[in-house]
Amino acid sequence: MALYSEKVMDHFRNPRNVGVIENADGVGEVGNAKCGDIMRIYLKIDDDIITDVKFETFGCGSAIASSSMATEMIKGKPVSEALALTNKAVAEALNGLPAHKIHCSVLAEEAIKNAVKDYYEKKRSKENNDK
Ligand code: FES
Repeated sequence: MALYSEKVMDHFRNPRNVGVIENADGVGEVGNAKCGDIMRIYLKIDDDIITDVKFETFGCGSAIASSSMATEMIKGKPVSEALALTNKAVAEALNGLPAHKIHCSVLAEEAIKNAVKDYYEKKRSKENNDK
């Protein structure tokens, strides 16, 4: 069996949603100290719906495929669904990752969670300023 599924290869070769969102409503970054890979997720959110999402990943092929798949999975979805996205779901959607590459999908889950956290923090400080 090939080490990587066709889905992984497809999302690695043609990653969806690569880029930066200027004035994003939430930005989340994570890194893995062991492999040194870094992932950044940008969210545009309207009325608690993720209307746009982009990513920059400085990392391995599995990390790129995981970010690409994860962004596709949360685009157009409520923020609550993005928060509930697990690395397991991302890996399954990619038709699996080799065991030593599972941590790459964890980066995607964590980067999205951090971006949502950033969104809530920004929202809260805006609400406080408006008071
Ligand atoms: Fe570390 Fe893939 S090897 S994110």
